[in-house]
Amino acid sequence: MYPFFLFTHNWLRWVVLVAGIIVVAFAWLGWLGKRSWGKRERIWGMIFNSSMDLQLLVGLLLYFVFSPLTTSAFGNFAAAMQNAAQRFFVVEHGVVMLFAAIFAHLGSVFSKKAADDRGRFRRSVIWYTLALVLVLAMIPWDRPLVRGM
Ligand code: HEM
Repeated sequence: MYPFFLFTHNWLRWVVLVAGIIVVAFAWLGWLGKRSWGKRERIWGMIFNSSMDLQLLVGLLLYFVFSPLTTSAFGNFAAAMQNAAQRFFVVEHGVVMLFAAIFAHLGSVFSKKAADDRGRFRRSVIWYTLALVLVLAMIPWDRPLVRGM
């Protein structure tokens, strides 16, 4: 199961990234160009949030069940913290990505609650941009960009 979930986590990253870039581009274009909020903003917001949720789920499975990188750390947490590569996956990657998913959801919730389209775009700009920046910063780019099973 480990290779399957690692493969899925690897490829799902591209779905998250493409959806994130589109959602952030629509948010900025709408805000700066004073456009009206429509179906495409709603749909891409949903795709971004759903792909983040799925990625989070696969990440949690890797983290707690399948990944030798993290599960081996649970026995000796202090030693794992001394190793920068292991610490990245045991602490930094998971925690920051969790915040990214929360920010993406806040983008969706807050933009729905805004009084007008300008407010919807402004809130999307803030929360979706934050979420995308965190995702970009915490992807381990030194690992394979695509993976086979
Ligand atoms: C949107 C959120 C996330 C993205 C875009 C993402 C992306 C990635 C990528 C690209 C890798 C490298 C995969 C490879 O080497 O083929 C990776 C590894 C990993 N991720 Fe995530 N991740 C996210 C969220 C999470 C979360 C929330 C957790 C756990 C709490 C997590 C746990 C892991 C673990 C444990 C690995 C290392 C797996 C291993 O090599 O054994 N990820 N992640």
